[in-house]
Amino acid sequence: MIKSIILRRPVLVVFNVTRRCNSICTMCGIWKTPSKISEELTFEEIKTIFKDLKSYGIKHVFLQGGEPLLRTDIVQIVEVMLELKLNPSIITNGLLLKEDISQRLAKLKCNVGISLDTLDQNKYFKIRGVDGLKIVLGNIERISHIKSRKGSWNITSTISKINYGEAKDLYLFAKQKGFDYQAFPYNYSLCHSSALDDDLAYDKEPEKIIDSFKVLSKLAEEDGLIFNKLLYDEAIKYLEGDYCVPCDAMKNSILINQAGMVSQCLEFKPSLNLKNVRIKEALSKLDYSKVQNCYMKTPCFYGCTRAAGLFKRKSPEIFLYSLLHPRAAFNYVKSYF
Ligand SMILES: C[S@@+](CC[C@H](N)C(=O)[O-])C[C@H]1O[C@@H](n2cnc3c(N)ncnc32)[C@H](O)[C@@H]1O
Ligand code: SF4
Ligand code: SF4
Repeated sequence: MIKSIILRRPVLVVFNVTRRCNSICTMCGIWKTPSKISEELTFEEIKTIFKDLKSYGIKHVFLQGGEPLLRTDIVQIVEVMLELKLNPSIITNGLLLKEDISQRLAKLKCNVGISLDTLDQNKYFKIRGVDGLKIVLGNIERISHIKSRKGSWNITSTISKINYGEAKDLYLFAKQKGFDYQAFPYNYSLCHSSALDDDLAYDKEPEKIIDSFKVLSKLAEEDGLIFNKLLYDEAIKYLEGDYCVPCDAMKNSILINQAGMVSQCLEFKPSLNLKNVRIKEALSKLDYSKVQNCYMKTPCFYGCTRAAGLFKRKSPEIFLYSLLHPRAAFNYVKSYF
């Protein structure tokens, strides 16, 4: 990690392990072009790529998709990461987090983010296109009774025009069930991975969404969660427009898709394949000016690029705050190291 920071190399890979999904969310474009299993990396290919990533200096890998739990070898993928001392985080819609897999994941030092945007059944159906709220809530309830979870488990919401009024309730729900909570604004600028839905889009009236992030910022501050507070404050700046803080895509994080292709971020089309080239060579060929153009003209606020970069950018502030609020430091270390 220190070598990567000195050499200014990315430390985070967002790895879309599959493009298959069991939901059809209106905010997401991924399910519209699903992968065939035969096009996806095999477990052995993933292992080879992970070894390359590790020797390059990558520290964290977000396993997402599509729906990552549709890969039947997802737990083995986590295990091999842990053997290589890579930090795994799974981001899932929670529909397949049944007893067995939850128990297996809880025993591993793997962070798990469960996407939950609403507690209302109709809104869930509108956002996710499937009638899955009861299933996800049932899974969350069962997981809340697992005594020891080695990784950090959180509930993550994408806040849009349809659910901004629920931000506080979702935060309190997560807290009550023993989960951390994070929320990000709905993105719909480039629409390679995202998708535009007029019922969710807020560009004509962002004020209410901004207010919901102000509420979240205050709650995070009250609970000593400085990183979340800083994140929400940045989200507010983004939602207020005029946000062109350099995006950390390629500097801090990169994307690898289900076939092993690399791109700058979720919204850019992947090109070079890690089955044929090493990560160092692939990154030397990716065009950073595309990222610069994008964050100046069509910025987004994805967690993988904005939140992870924020950690580095604001580390002096976070450090000072942590000295005064040891609980914040503990939450931090638990999640990221
Ligand atoms: C693409 S999904 C993949 C993992 C899994 N299928 C899930 O939904 O959690 C990763 C995260 O991106 C969020 N997401 C999807 N579309 C988005 C958008 N347009 N803007 C912001 N976040 C989005 C999802 O809610 C989820 O938390
Ligand atoms: S957000 Fe996740 S669950 Fe929804 S369609 Fe996209 S990949 Fe699937
Ligand atoms: S702002 Fe950054 S992460 Fe977002 S789409 Fe542009 S380059 Fe990608």
